[in-house]
Amino acid sequence: MARLDPHSHADAAQPRVRHARLRLSVDFGSSRIAGRATLVLDQPSGGLLDLDSKALEIQDASTGSGTPVPFEVGPDEAILGRRVRLTLPEGTREVSLSYATAPDAPALQWLSPEQTAGGAHPFLFSQCQPIHARSLAPLADTARTRFTYEAEVEVEEPLSVVMSAGPAGEERGARPGTRVFRFRMPQPIPSYLLALAVGRLESRDLGPRSRVFAEPETVESAAHEFAETEAMIARAETLFGPYDWDRYDMLVLPPSFPYGGMENPRMTFLTPTLLAGDRSLVDVVAHELAHSWTGNLVTNADMEHFWLNEGFTVWAERRLLEALHGEEATVLAWAIGEKALEESMERFGEGSRFTCLRTDLAGTDPDDAFSSIPYEKGARFVNLLERTAGRPRFDRFMREYMARFRFTSITTEEFLAFLEERLPGLAAQVDAKAWLYEPGLPGNAPVFRSARLEGLVALAKAFPGERPSSGSIADWNPAETLVYLQNVPREIDRDACAWLDAAMGLTTKGNYEILVEWLTVAAGSDYAPAFGRLEEVLRRVGRMKYLRPLYGAMGRHPRTRALARQVFAEAAPRYHVLSRRVASSVIEKYPETTAS
Ligand code: BES
Ligand code: ZN
Repeated sequence: MARLDPHSHADAAQPRVRHARLRLSVDFGSSRIAGRATLVLDQPSGGLLDLDSKALEIQDASTGSGTPVPFEVGPDEAILGRRVRLTLPEGTREVSLSYATAPDAPALQWLSPEQTAGGAHPFLFSQCQPIHARSLAPLADTARTRFTYEAEVEVEEPLSVVMSAGPAGEERGARPGTRVFRFRMPQPIPSYLLALAVGRLESRDLGPRSRVFAEPETVESAAHEFAETEAMIARAETLFGPYDWDRYDMLVLPPSFPYGGMENPRMTFLTPTLLAGDRSLVDVVAHELAHSWTGNLVTNADMEHFWLNEGFTVWAERRLLEALHGEEATVLAWAIGEKALEESMERFGEGSRFTCLRTDLAGTDPDDAFSSIPYEKGARFVNLLERTAGRPRFDRFMREYMARFRFTSITTEEFLAFLEERLPGLAAQVDAKAWLYEPGLPGNAPVFRSARLEGLVALAKAFPGERPSSGSIADWNPAETLVYLQNVPREIDRDACAWLDAAMGLTTKGNYEILVEWLTVAAGSDYAPAFGRLEEVLRRVGRMKYLRPLYGAMGRHPRTRALARQVFAEAAPRYHVLSRRVASSVIEKYPETTAS
């Protein structure tokens, strides 16, 4: 047995799946996908093939020539799900499994029409990272191997389908009132990049190789918000080399999507909370686009090396931001990231093993280990390497790194070996071992400062004793406003809240980063005039990055605790399973509310 990924039953000593063919039929009535997955092996093989599955009902398995394949489904393990052990007849090239997903498949969120912008049609989206692809299809659900795929998906009219793949035509389905959408993904992907969404979708071209998909009600504002995508792709190419995935399309999802963005290749998934109207939140697009190099081209072998994926991507995102908007804007982005890093360090405790970059996750659900550590500590480590080597040398190294490992998945140790080979001595010089294998933030962490940043932070910390002038408030760009708010004391009195809200127009902000920062202060200050907006956000938005601080701040006062419990009880059934878990874990830690 050679199981390398602690979160998969896949066995490195067994044959590998090189290509997958999916035939799926989506049924909103039963919240199930019924399908057939054909897995093509790298060579004719026989004997055992272990796959992953979660909440799947597997009906039968056969070889390409129709010979039945005996299989055995193992016990349900809380994190891993059930192992599917196939015994392949000698000479098997491909194996097909008929199966159905379960209504509670963690990869899938089934939305009722009321949860969409249009309100008339249901919606379905997948989120496979980190280890949920196994609840969408039986497969070797590990990033250690890659496969290409093709798919055909049958849905009811007038719904359409997008996937992390190129479109390959559509036609009438065999059943009346249905359509079949075909896809082809020629670039090999790890299983976590398998993605699918179904809804009433329209699209608008943004440039020669990008297009945005969204519900008809949202598509125009999405096209406006993301109009600069081609400029971003072109800029990223000058930094990281040619874009290797042909097209860069995006899908704007309904607001329950639990993340800001997900880098599904050829089809980035995005939260509609990015639609601020002023393009002020497109750094999330920069981030997901940057994954086209750092992540989708070179990814982590498994979740214990997740920092290789996200740390490099945050670094790349900020290089892109600097190229597009200059150094001053980038310093603010690092400062905003520092707040997230501090929050995660505090949540786990600085000595926690979850604050290491290279983690040990055997027995741990990777969704529970998720935090800003791999992102922000990881990006600081990469930035330190860059500073120490010098930008020109480091940029050359990055080009070589991506050329050497493109379309593969690597470990921290493979990265270190390559670093040592190309930039000998650099790892020792920055004490890479401490960064990677020890908890907390090392003392040689790079510092990002500017006079502008220092001024904003000092002004905010002096609030409410000192108040910014209306002229300076009007002068701030959205990132500056956010930095200011992040540094205002977490609990202020009623007058101070009312003043801030009025002076900055906070409760009606369209920029969710600013809005949520404000609502966190307002909730933590027991400021009732903001509760209406707070409730509205909690009921509508599933993005975990927002739910955690909002429900967290509501724990400070008896009245907000009661509100949080009531809103959660009502909203929970409509939350994504991950959002529900995050919110309930925060609420569970509230002190007991005594009658007030
Ligand atoms: N790949 C992540 C989202 C993710 C990570 C999903 C782990 C599931 C498991 C994506 O690229 C991401 O980091 N999104 C961020 C955007 C941000 C850092 C700009 C988010 O959702 O907030
Ligand atoms: Zn990311």
